[in-house]
Amino acid sequence: MRTAPRDDGDLALRPARDQDVPAAVALIESAYRGDASRAGWTTEADLLGGRRTDAEAVRAVVGAPGGQLLVATREGRLVGCAQLERRGGDAYFGMFAVAPAAQGGGLGSTILAGAERIAREQWRAATMQMTVIRQRLDLIAWYERRGYARTGATQPFPYGDERFGVPRRDDLEFVVLAKALGGSGGRRRGTGTVVPNAFALDVTKIRADARAKMAEGAVTKDNTSDVQAVIDVLNRVVATEIVCWLRYTQHAIAASGIDRAQVAAEFTEHATDERQHMERAAERISQLGAAPDLSPEGLSKSHTDYVVTDDTDLTKMLEENLVAERIVISTYQEIIRWIGDSDPTTRRLMESILGDEEDHADDLNDLLGN
Ligand SMILES: [Fe+2]
Ligand SMILES: [Fe+2]
Repeated sequence: MRTAPRDDGDLALRPARDQDVPAAVALIESAYRGDASRAGWTTEADLLGGRRTDAEAVRAVVGAPGGQLLVATREGRLVGCAQLERRGGDAYFGMFAVAPAAQGGGLGSTILAGAERIAREQWRAATMQMTVIRQRLDLIAWYERRGYARTGATQPFPYGDERFGVPRRDDLEFVVLAKALGGSGGRRRGTGTVVPNAFALDVTKIRADARAKMAEGAVTKDNTSDVQAVIDVLNRVVATEIVCWLRYTQHAIAASGIDRAQVAAEFTEHATDERQHMERAAERISQLGAAPDLSPEGLSKSHTDYVVTDDTDLTKMLEENLVAERIVISTYQEIIRWIGDSDPTTRRLMESILGDEEDHADDLNDLLGN
């Protein structure tokens, strides 16, 4: 999705092009690392040394089919940038940088607002999300003043991977912030373009989604509005299981190559399990007094994506399914904790399904030789 340049005084916001990559890398480094960054308040120089990013990472964002690097220019010079990426029904904001000399003049707010506008108006995103180093209290407060809130989710800092810098302390981690944009999230679609780290971020997102849903109240048998919350969560399980069933079925049929028979047989077995999970969740919805949602539109509620891969790349197929299983395991654990003692029947159902999903992940790990 691309956007037309937008003028704001002498400032223009536009999607980056390949030729912007060197200037964008220099800008990001100058905003966060080294002595140059100390001129602005976004510096991380006390937390991290090394590099913040490189040309390869920035080029990947510029060319990403599901997003863009939004750049701010003033008199033709690049003074700010931010990654904007579509993730399911939500938008992700990252790689945010403002030239140190231009900080404090409202430029950061303008870029963030521009990104929110694209996410809301063009993508109809439900939320904008971002990760910030927990120790960056000033930056977290800056986002909070612009309507963001901590979701409660955290992500580990990638210690040992110097592409993310050289940590100067051993307790770094990321917190996840989110802001509702009011969109419907649109239809979720399988992109086949899973970016590095997408798995960790997806889990964070679905946990945030699950928490938002569950915040509507604890479940008690006597409270019909809370039963409705369980029904809503179970309909998400139904959608997730259908998508898993479809993905495994497609992969079982499409798989080719020398190890095809063994891998396809495993996918077929998993597909059968996923369909049974869907049926059991749907029956529970019926017991709770509602009609399960098996409509094609309802599939947008799935926690996992329908990803089609190259049919000769069995390793990639196995990895995609493992990612999906891990997302499902994480979400179902969250659902089980949420239900607690309030609805033992639904909890036992989810525990039983969770056991199968853990077996699926083990099977895939074995086939991957892990
Ligand atoms: Fe399942
Ligand atoms: Fe599964």
